Amino acid sequence: MLQYYDPNKNSQPGQVIDPRRDYGTPAISIDADETVQLVTLSIDGQEVKMPEGTSIMRAAAHLDINIPRLCATDSLQAFGSCRICLVQIEGRKGFPASCTTQVEEGMIVRTQSQETAKLRRNIMELYISDHPLDCLTCAANGDCQLQDMAGTVGLREVRYGYHGENHLDAVKDESHSYFTFDPAKCIVCSRCVRACEEVQGTFALTIDGRGFESKVSAGQNEAFMDSECVSCGACVQACPTATLMENSVIENGLPEHDVVTTCAYCGVGCAFKAEVRGDQVVRMVPFKGGKANRGHSCVKGRFAFGYSTHKDRITKPMIRNNIDEPWQQASWEEAVEFAANKIKTIQKEYGSDSVGGITSSRCTNEETYLVQKLVRAAFGNNNVDTCARVCHSPTGYGLKTTLGESAGTQTFDSIEKSDVIIVIGANPTDAHPVFASRMKRRLREGAKLIVADPRRIDLVKSPHIDSEHHLNLLPGTNVALLNALAHVIVREGLEDKEFIELRCEDDAFLHWKEFISDPKNSPEAMAQVTGVPAERIIAAAKLYGRAGNGAIYYGLGVTEHSQGSTAVMAIANLAMLTGNIGREGVGVNPLRGQNNVQGACDMGSFPHELPGYRHVSIDSVREPFEKLWGVTIKNEPGLRIPNMFDAAVAGRFKGLYCQGEDLAQSDPNTQHVEDALRNLDCLIVQDIFLNETAKFAHVFLPGASFLEKDGTFTNAERRISPVRKVMAPLSGKADWEVTMVLSKALGFEMNYQHPSEIMDEIAQLTPTFEGVSYQRLDEEGSIQWPCNDASPYGTPIMHVEEFVRGEGFFAVTEYVATDEKVTKRFPLLMTTGRVLSQYNVGAQTRRTDNMEWHSEDVLEIHPHDAEYRGIDHGDMLQVSSRAGDTMLRADITERVQPGVVYTTFHHPETGANVVTTDNSDWATNCPEYKVTAVEVRKMRGQSDWQSSYEKFSQQQVAFLQEAETQA
Ligand code: SF4
Ligand code: SF4
Ligand code: SF4
Ligand code: FES
Repeated sequence: MLQYYDPNKNSQPGQVIDPRRDYGTPAISIDADETVQLVTLSIDGQEVKMPEGTSIMRAAAHLDINIPRLCATDSLQAFGSCRICLVQIEGRKGFPASCTTQVEEGMIVRTQSQETAKLRRNIMELYISDHPLDCLTCAANGDCQLQDMAGTVGLREVRYGYHGENHLDAVKDESHSYFTFDPAKCIVCSRCVRACEEVQGTFALTIDGRGFESKVSAGQNEAFMDSECVSCGACVQACPTATLMENSVIENGLPEHDVVTTCAYCGVGCAFKAEVRGDQVVRMVPFKGGKANRGHSCVKGRFAFGYSTHKDRITKPMIRNNIDEPWQQASWEEAVEFAANKIKTIQKEYGSDSVGGITSSRCTNEETYLVQKLVRAAFGNNNVDTCARVCHSPTGYGLKTTLGESAGTQTFDSIEKSDVIIVIGANPTDAHPVFASRMKRRLREGAKLIVADPRRIDLVKSPHIDSEHHLNLLPGTNVALLNALAHVIVREGLEDKEFIELRCEDDAFLHWKEFISDPKNSPEAMAQVTGVPAERIIAAAKLYGRAGNGAIYYGLGVTEHSQGSTAVMAIANLAMLTGNIGREGVGVNPLRGQNNVQGACDMGSFPHELPGYRHVSIDSVREPFEKLWGVTIKNEPGLRIPNMFDAAVAGRFKGLYCQGEDLAQSDPNTQHVEDALRNLDCLIVQDIFLNETAKFAHVFLPGASFLEKDGTFTNAERRISPVRKVMAPLSGKADWEVTMVLSKALGFEMNYQHPSEIMDEIAQLTPTFEGVSYQRLDEEGSIQWPCNDASPYGTPIMHVEEFVRGEGFFAVTEYVATDEKVTKRFPLLMTTGRVLSQYNVGAQTRRTDNMEWHSEDVLEIHPHDAEYRGIDHGDMLQVSSRAGDTMLRADITERVQPGVVYTTFHHPETGANVVTTDNSDWATNCPEYKVTAVEVRKMRGQSDWQSSYEKFSQQQVAFLQEAETQA
């Protein structure tokens, strides 16, 4: 564990001292087992002990002595360009810069004297002589370090005048939707350039020219929007002046206060300060105290928050008897009563199992917990499932089977200790950007990277990143590749015999070893299957097998397959085989797609498990819930999402409560999903927008955005982080309150006054959450479960001494080819993924300026495949599979290999999931989104599905407008 060590403040391991202060230069990071060399020095007559390597500036900051600075900030390495931080050191000549000078034993430092004051004023004079004097009307007035420094150094006049050669006429770059670059205000401190390099790792900015001509340049003197910039905002955050400024601040003024909360987009779980003016969020600033993001952000969390007050928000409940009828607005009481009566009527007529509920990974733990509680206690069945069914359910199954716990093993910090990193079936720079920046930093420090992906994702090669191996396997062959990697490690004798003997089940290992050593699993044999030459597999296996610390990161490109669970187990096998489990820098790390995938699974959203991954069939598991809730819980698992759809189509399943999830857009085989939803007698949708699923609903209950709620999210590291209310819910009710009133109307009363009480109940009933409470979260900032008596501060690294299941289990992972085969009729394999600017079904990001980067889903196709079909870049293409047809624009690119096409599913009208099939993982029914045999051809006009979708969708929007107009 890294310690940001401060002997003067008794800091805890892993803590940044005061995340709201800027200490000028980064803290020295020290390993827990490292001895800290402290030096004692005196600054302005006060004695301080600091670790060797600390800057004088930082040491002074710990004594609350703030040395003036412009080019230094504690998120970046010291640079020493502005010279305003100069100090005097006894026995040394001159005036060294305190940001670049390290503390030494016995040093005597003076930060203030006549001479230093004069020198600082001289420097400031030069800056100000080439700076617009429009402070009163500047957007940064009151939040500008240049302004502050002018005051601090006592600048009273500028002897050079303001009329010499200057940059005051420099033209603003207003190309970017979220921030403006005003070069007239630039002091060329390079903080932006360094932030883009050190923090983000994109290298989009440079200082162009020399001396007076020096200026910040995006790309090759391009506009920001045309450059390589990925809009993470790190440069804006680092800028000490108004040169790089958020447009939201320019338009609305500076914020008045802030609330620390957690990003509601991806599974990285970045902490943000929501900065507010009145009741308006003016900007989201990544919080330095966030242990998942350490002060960094991506374009979604940083800038794409405007959806929360978008005009499309529905804030009044609506009801109707039939989906071909217009909506009627209703009071909360009417809507809830209407919904409850419908559910009761259905259960009376079709039986208690004819209804169910779906929880969402976008909602908080507390909300999700309540929905599963409502289903089990008020509906009286176990028909509850979650959208993790269609993403990471194989992770739950695979890791539970092999390691004993359905969760990743590490912290994000752990990457800083990795020597060899395998990224398989994940695209972190797009889907988990803040973590990707950490990973890229480690790669720049020298760690080696193996990418296993059918596409050439950015990590394969980007500025200062060059992967050792890109194993560009064919979609659907992960297990074949993983087995071949393990085969080589065993064949070469690279397994960690001691670890296996001490930590893993003997019999299972020997059985597995026999299986994996079979020549059918050799790279030579699997080269045929995967399309990856044997020698590349061998080289990659040797690299990982010989790594000091080898870490594996994977995503939906592993799980969303017919052998998703098998692939997860094969990954766990690889890690156990090489002893890469149970310490920093190693592990098995599922990168979760949505913000609370981990939490939704933890909270008992699956039909077979109560919170904490405990099977409903076990009496001792059900008992405490039954006792506390005062009900009997069925001891049989309920229906999974695909079973619900099949039963709905068959007429046996009639009512569904769906909170925060968009099944109609995100689930595979859209036409089947639509048939199922149409067949329901009562679909209750709780959401912030009329999403695609809501168009089939009978009851619409307005949801709250993340800015309107209290609760917690759990990220990919098992980190439980607080979500705090920044504004009142637009609909008047928080989501947990809505579930509570619905439950009451159904006859099962829940009585919570605040989400903290829900967490208290979760802690009472779930051993891995025993020590979690809002008070503890406030004290710690965030906690990684398990958190209980055994680990009162949570568990950063899992399986340290022993596996949760006792001994690690090597599962035999036979490669079985998917049924989804290419044929003459469907000769290409389509795989799907995400882009940086959009999030999942796009309901949020499509309602922001992020649309500028990805306004439609396109089909990536290799030039050979395009040429063979006479397709030009930008042509509209019909994409046909065994499930259906849709239309996408062609993007001809060598990112995909011949025979493979790729698209995203962020736009409903594209209907990417009209094409994906019902195939699914053998163990969990997670859909096989990543492998669909298709053919593409040029076409004009929409597919049949698109025409009927457009008609239906327009009708539903008209129904909504009618309801809003009548109200
Ligand atoms: S927004 Fe991020 S990627 Fe773009 S220039 Fe700034 S630091 Fe670089
Ligand atoms: S844009 Fe801001 S951070 Fe970048 S060099 Fe200019 S003043 Fe410094
Ligand atoms: S990386 Fe994920 S959690 Fe972090 S700001 Fe971006 S979307 Fe939000
Ligand atoms: S702050 Fe030290 S040289 Fe700029």
